[in-house]
Amino acid sequence: MICRETIISASPEDTFQAGKKFAEDLRRNSVTGFFGDLGTGKTQFIKGICDFFKVKEAVNSPTFIIVNEYSGISDSDNSAIKIFHFDFYRLKNMSDLYSIGFENYTDQNGICLIEWAELADEYLQGNLQKIYFEHGQKENERIIKFK
Ligand SMILES: Nc1ncnc2c1ncn2[C@@H]1O[C@H](COP(=O)(O)OP(=O)(O)OP(=O)(O)O)[C@@H](O)[C@H]1O
Ligand SMILES: [Mg+2]
Repeated sequence: MICRETIISASPEDTFQAGKKFAEDLRRNSVTGFFGDLGTGKTQFIKGICDFFKVKEAVNSPTFIIVNEYSGISDSDNSAIKIFHFDFYRLKNMSDLYSIGFENYTDQNGICLIEWAELADEYLQGNLQKIYFEHGQKENERIIKFK
């Protein structure tokens, strides 16, 4: 997916499919940050990514335990691939990142997906793909921007 575009999603299913499409281009050791208010569809999009990788576990925001780990299958060569799903909503500063051992996850040949990734942005010094989520005008509309 070309990373400078905007998608208008009209439903949770649209957002799921957008995530699934985005996943086609995700590479091992990549880090993607998901920004935007509560309920804007970050987790829904990540569910689509995980579906692409044939993850069988339930995919939910790991708000209380910081990271969920899923087992996926890479599309390119059918090999196993780990997906690390973070939620930094409750983290307060960069030292929290060290205490959860964040740096141990980014070089595991897996894929890191981070909701509320503001801290990761500072830590990785912009070296992450960013996706921004907003509420649209209509109730089920969401605006998804790739930067
Ligand atoms: N177009 C849409 N795309 C995604 N979700 C939508 C859409 N329309 C309605 N929804 C609803 O909005 C909610 C989005 O929830 P989701 O958990 O994905 O948000 P989130 O951005 O991860 O929030 P949080 O910051 O609390 O983790 C779901 O209840 C979903 O059904
Ligand atoms: Mg979420």
